[in-house]
Amino acid sequence: MKKLSARRRHPLAALVVLLLALAATGGLYAAFAPAEKAQADTSAQSLAIDEGKKLFAVGCSSCHGLNGQGSSDGPSLVGVGSAAVDFQVGTGRMPAQQPGAQVPRKKVVYSQAEIDQLAAFVASLGPGPVAPTKDQYTSTDPNDVSKGGELFRTNCAQCHNFAGQGGALTRGKFAPSLDGVDPKHIYEAMQTGPQNMPSFPDSTMPEEQKKQIVAFVRHTTNEEPNPGGLALGSLGPVTEGLFGWIFGLGALIAVAIWVAAHTTKAKKS
Ligand code: HEC
Ligand code: HEC
Repeated sequence: MKKLSARRRHPLAALVVLLLALAATGGLYAAFAPAEKAQADTSAQSLAIDEGKKLFAVGCSSCHGLNGQGSSDGPSLVGVGSAAVDFQVGTGRMPAQQPGAQVPRKKVVYSQAEIDQLAAFVASLGPGPVAPTKDQYTSTDPNDVSKGGELFRTNCAQCHNFAGQGGALTRGKFAPSLDGVDPKHIYEAMQTGPQNMPSFPDSTMPEEQKKQIVAFVRHTTNEEPNPGGLALGSLGPVTEGLFGWIFGLGALIAVAIWVAAHTTKAKKS
């Protein structure tokens, strides 16, 4: 007892107590914080599924059934995965409207946040292809375009034409032009094979090859970002330079002539 109280009065005692307390709080935090975070993740996930279920009941269940089990008006969605929902709803194909040979692209009805919720709900019905992340479909290797071109000509060109301009199929169906299609939706089309298109799962076409095809499609359908300025029909830097020369120099010469004309007039008077 005596020993302890003597130590308590030691000048370093306060510091030791403080350090012990800090270590204890740190330890407690480390023990509980990750668990809390994981809990937050799963509850955000189940919230998204709940919200998605509500949206689905209103907008989709009339054809696909309340639990996505399908009906005479729409197929079962068990196991189609979040990629199929993101593609179908993100390109405006779903919710389908009038019956026809093929459900076309149209104006998108839902926000991306709602699409994510619908996708979370459908993904919860059964495992299926997962919507890709940005780095899965964004190529950084300049060789990807030519590799993707080869893959495109063997796997896709028979329906979509070698430059992705689309083409007619039998019974009023058609392979659409790929002009301006979002890279994420190109990737998802390959994962899920919408309507008459075959699917290209990772087992037959690895992720890397899908990325190369996306790079090629974006390149040939001319979706590269415009560096700015007047496009002048995208005729290239030579024409743009020529344009600058002719009009720029022309304007300078016109100004020079005007100035000269006025100064001579001023001298005469
Ligand atoms: C008017 C009926 C109708 C409504 C409403 C509708 N769908 Fe569909 N849906 C269909 C039909 C029909 C198909 C099959 C299209 C085909 O393959 O030709 C389909 C296909 C799909 C597919 C593709 C399934 C696959 O195998 O890849 C998904 C995903 C889908 N619908 C999601 C939805 C979602 C989500 C909604 C609500 C926002 C919705 N649908 C609303 C009729 C409907
Ligand atoms: C057998 C013919 C066929 C082949 C082969 C094929 N597609 Fe398709 N593709 C289609 C049809 C049909 C559709 C329209 C589906 C729909 O409207 O739901 C389509 C739709 C698409 C879309 C959606 C376009 C849009 O307007 O939203 C993309 C992207 C696409 N295909 C890419 C590809 C790529 C890439 C390949 C090769 C890996 C490929 N397709 C191979 C027939 C084909």
